[in-house]
Amino acid sequence: MKNINKYVEEAQQSGIRHISDFVDDTSDVIQLTVGEIDLPTPEKTKLAGINAIKKNFTKYTSNAGTLELRKVISTFVSKHYGMAYDYKNEITVTVGVSEGIDLTLRTLCNAGDEIIMASPAYPAYITSTKIAGAKPIFIDTSKTDFKLTPELLKSAITSKTKAVILNYPNNPTGTILSVDELAGLAEVIKKNDLYVITDDVYDLLVYGSIKQSPSIVTLPGMKERTVVLNGLSKSHSMTGWRIGYVLAPESISQEMFKVHQTNVGGASSISQAAAIAAMTEDSDNPAKLVPIFAKRKKFITDYLDKLNVPFVNPEGAFYIFADIHSFKMSSWDFSIWLLKTYKLAVVPGTAFSEYAEGYIRISYAADLATLKEAMSRLESALKSLKIVNE
Ligand SMILES: Cc1ncc(COP(=O)(O)O)c(C=O)c1O
Repeated sequence: MKNINKYVEEAQQSGIRHISDFVDDTSDVIQLTVGEIDLPTPEKTKLAGINAIKKNFTKYTSNAGTLELRKVISTFVSKHYGMAYDYKNEITVTVGVSEGIDLTLRTLCNAGDEIIMASPAYPAYITSTKIAGAKPIFIDTSKTDFKLTPELLKSAITSKTKAVILNYPNNPTGTILSVDELAGLAEVIKKNDLYVITDDVYDLLVYGSIKQSPSIVTLPGMKERTVVLNGLSKSHSMTGWRIGYVLAPESISQEMFKVHQTNVGGASSISQAAAIAAMTEDSDNPAKLVPIFAKRKKFITDYLDKLNVPFVNPEGAFYIFADIHSFKMSSWDFSIWLLKTYKLAVVPGTAFSEYAEGYIRISYAADLATLKEAMSRLESALKSLKIVNE
């Protein structure tokens, strides 16, 4: 048999799914793996979806998304980022942020291009970069509080560098960057004439005094070289509806459009109708989620403190990146052991590149009762390792 596409062959299945696939449906495993909010999609959004079906709004839409939804997105982002994006030429409605990632990398990359990403990195960045024929270049951020710095960025740039991917609030660490920190990166990006892809999907799920995590696109001279990825999966518990959007200058958007049209045709008409309600009538949903997640985060971080397990204190998103170096097991072995022996599923750090060895990701997108049981299982596991005293 002839070989299949070598770029696809070299790409790996997401390590997050990999570990959750180990869990059989019938077992009493607590899954703190997939980044999916336990709470339902808000009511008005659901109703808009139901009404769309009842009114037979069930056909193809314009490829880039319905004009009505693109107008709503344009109005939303004018407040959210304080920036004007033309709904006709600069906004594409995608099948989740996942499609946005793939679409952007396919559009920007030539074979052999290098794409810089901070490690730990969300697995789809790695896979989509490889499938696009480009090479992921990882920057280890574990010594800089899991933040990409201008110095680290400079040291990774070569003549082949095409773009940098930023994801703050970060999955898996929950780290965010301040405007000043982003400005330092923006200078390096402009000086080296790079594109930047900013995945802002968690930007409204932030703790502390700010209401929104800053984005590099808002800095002077950045719009022309930035592709913004955002969507409703996290802010509105809409993972199954598959709605994201890409904001990019017209010159890039028009090229992306060819890829998007070929790959998916367009996002679901029903989901697009629901998305309009999510971004208008249910626009307060992320603000409602924040205090719920803040409580869960406090519960988990207090418990890990009690168990003496170090972790990155998350400023956004809903994950804890816990340091397990002292357990003397690889993150994969530890995760499999925890799953098989204590029926607790977490994600090994290596799902986020080899540079994230020695960590596990615990998702706290689960209710407090589930988290309590999960932490008690973790405590039993650590006691059996004699890491926590009996
Ligand atoms: C950083 C990041 N980007 C993108 C996605 C995918 O989002 P969607 O479900 O909208 O495709 C996720 C999902 O976990 C994520 O964590």
